[in-house]
Amino acid sequence: MKTDGANNEATNLRDEIQRLKKEKNALIMAHYYQRDEIQEIADFIGDSLALARQAAKTDADVILMCGVHFMGETAKILCPDKTVLVPDPEAGCSLADSCDPEEFARFVAAHPDHTVISYVNTSAAVKAHTDIVVTSGNARKIVEKLPADEKIIFGPDRNLGEYLNSVTGRFMTLWNGACHVHDRFSLDRIAEMKREHPGAKVLVHPECRRPLQLIADKVGSTAALLDFATKDDAQEYIVVTESGILFEMRRKCPGKTFLAAPAEDAECQCNECDYMKLNTLRKVYEALRDNKYEIVVDPEIAAKAVRPIKRMLEMSE
Ligand code: 13P
Ligand code: SF4
Repeated sequence: MKTDGANNEATNLRDEIQRLKKEKNALIMAHYYQRDEIQEIADFIGDSLALARQAAKTDADVILMCGVHFMGETAKILCPDKTVLVPDPEAGCSLADSCDPEEFARFVAAHPDHTVISYVNTSAAVKAHTDIVVTSGNARKIVEKLPADEKIIFGPDRNLGEYLNSVTGRFMTLWNGACHVHDRFSLDRIAEMKREHPGAKVLVHPECRRPLQLIADKVGSTAALLDFATKDDAQEYIVVTESGILFEMRRKCPGKTFLAAPAEDAECQCNECDYMKLNTLRKVYEALRDNKYEIVVDPEIAAKAVRPIKRMLEMSE
């Protein structure tokens, strides 16, 4: 439990954040995996797709992106004239790191007659070698819009790629990357939870391995899982994605029970993204106060990366 001192500090930080936000005409955006106290003060919470869409249409002067680096970069590429800040410059993404831009360029060059689809969890330099960016919220829809015989390479997440191949009947050639959080959920641990909670439905993010996708009641992006839980009639859910999403699930469905799924080797009952959790309320405050840490994207790379991101936004309308 928080002490009075800690509670007072949090209240002061929240007040200061509100004041600075008005003063700077700033918009605070947060991904569902952010700490609860950041989701609480955010102006907008969403999955990667919703964050990109919101960034593209905001009239704020400053965007403070509480998530990981590629989310800030996507916002900056879409809004080059705005100041885009992130609370912690070390908040990266293991999945984006599993795709080195030069190696990816060689992979693309080795498949000259292929359309290149990249997951949004990539660096701007990888997006610059891409024809269409997708998120887990629109990937299926976008792949299905392409002609059935179109040759496609997809990177970097092999689990999402396998999921997309299975639901679309395509044979996309996959890059062999993964996220250190989602790739660490195991079928055994989830099966054990299901035995203890037989009535619980299993919600799985498509970055999880194929066996977990196969036992899921619903596979989807964070927003899709949230939407499913809101509309579905079950009372209990096993949530197989980063545990930050439970905050919004519990807020939207106060009468339901949401159980966080543990990682394969974890002693605790959850699975957190260390990068997402680097952001804190204090860092949000300091970012607004000191205009740090500003996202800068090389203009040549940004000019190439903006095309597949805009194509994604058009194709997912
Ligand atoms: P969503 O687009 O589903 O929010 O996923 C983002 C992410 O980083 C998943 O690990
Ligand atoms: Fe990247 Fe995985 Fe963290 Fe999502 S959960 S930001 S894919 S490391």
